[in-house]
Amino acid sequence: MEALLCRKLGDPTLDNSSIEVSKSVPIPELKSPTDVRIKVKACSLNYANYLQILGKYQEKYPLPFIPGSDYSGIVEAVGSNVSNFKVGDPVCSVANVGSFAQYIVADQSELFLVPKDCDLLAAGALPVAFGTSHVALVHRAQLTSKQVLLVLGAAGGVGFSAVQIGKVLGATVIAVARGAEKNKFLKSLGADYVVDLIYENVIESVKKFLKSRNLKGVDVLYDPVGGKLTKDCMKLLNWGAQILIIGFASGDIPVIPANIALVKNWTIHGLYWGSYRIHQPGVLEDSLKELLSWMSRDLITVHISRAYSLSEARLAFSAIKDRKAVGKVMFTLDDLNGVRSKL
Ligand SMILES: NC(=O)c1ccc[n+]([C@@H]2O[C@H](COP(=O)([O-])OP(=O)(O)OC[C@H]3O[C@@H](n4cnc5c(N)ncnc54)[C@H](OP(=O)(O)O)[C@@H]3O)[C@@H](O)[C@H]2O)c1
Repeated sequence: MEALLCRKLGDPTLDNSSIEVSKSVPIPELKSPTDVRIKVKACSLNYANYLQILGKYQEKYPLPFIPGSDYSGIVEAVGSNVSNFKVGDPVCSVANVGSFAQYIVADQSELFLVPKDCDLLAAGALPVAFGTSHVALVHRAQLTSKQVLLVLGAAGGVGFSAVQIGKVLGATVIAVARGAEKNKFLKSLGADYVVDLIYENVIESVKKFLKSRNLKGVDVLYDPVGGKLTKDCMKLLNWGAQILIIGFASGDIPVIPANIALVKNWTIHGLYWGSYRIHQPGVLEDSLKELLSWMSRDLITVHISRAYSLSEARLAFSAIKDRKAVGKVMFTLDDLNGVRSKL
């Protein structure tokens, strides 16, 4: 089968030898009676996949490995004890690594049936980005309609899902991003206010908006960016606010002063979505089921920034690195006749 291989750690946008497309990788076999083989149709490219190849991700993998986490596809073979799925079913799931390939094997307990009225390509981007934001905002922060949510990196993968989930929950959503295209996109998703960091100072701009709505401050900060932006945004937080630490796309891990957290009664949540698969898989299962149901009712949409083939991997990683993505960057691995129709 065809697959993207990481042969050595390095920046795939600069170093030609770090990744390659191989057409002779063995198709993975069913090893347990509850295994299911999926013909992958689409997989999403997350910032974490870039970090995996750079060797900067929190989990390390022996070389060579096939990167890739969340995907969607069609069940192609089932083990003798598989009762939940049959050949031909549309499914989506997430793996530690291995989804940037034509076939992948997963235990039936890790798969989700994609409802008929959901776009299969879009479902390939649901688990990591939307799953992270759903667990963060619904399970951890328990965001309510009376609260103000501030989303950083809001036009990126996890950010744009947080904006949409915030709106489904009825919160007032402030989105922070860079540039006119991202600004327009976030307004189209229903963000109540968008700060364009190219032209505006985040503190002044958000304060002006809050005043115009008679709101005191921010109740929940959703932060996949880190660095100076986080430090600035702490000046906007209410007494009793919650900080969701999602990631450090800026490359800079922020320091959150414990003395201010004490005085202001802040709650700081570190959130590593993937680790729920080990520690609380039921939370992820409920979360993805709810997301698939929201998607089938058009309450959330997966905006595809661009879908690439595996042979265009360097371009795809550049889109992430250069902050050009507006929504999700995807790989498509198969003929998507009929699957692209809803895009
Ligand atoms: N905790 C978890 O379980 C979990 C799950 C998924 C992702 N993450 C993490 O969340 C972060 C974002 O992931 P993502 O998939 O949403 O990435 P993405 O699609 O590339 O979006 C990241 C956003 O961050 C902003 N940004 C600010 N400074 C940046 C810089 N120096 N380089 C790149 N982007 C920068 C960009 O927005 P502007 O250009 O508009 O400023 C960009 O849209 C990553 O650190 C990732 O590892 C964590």
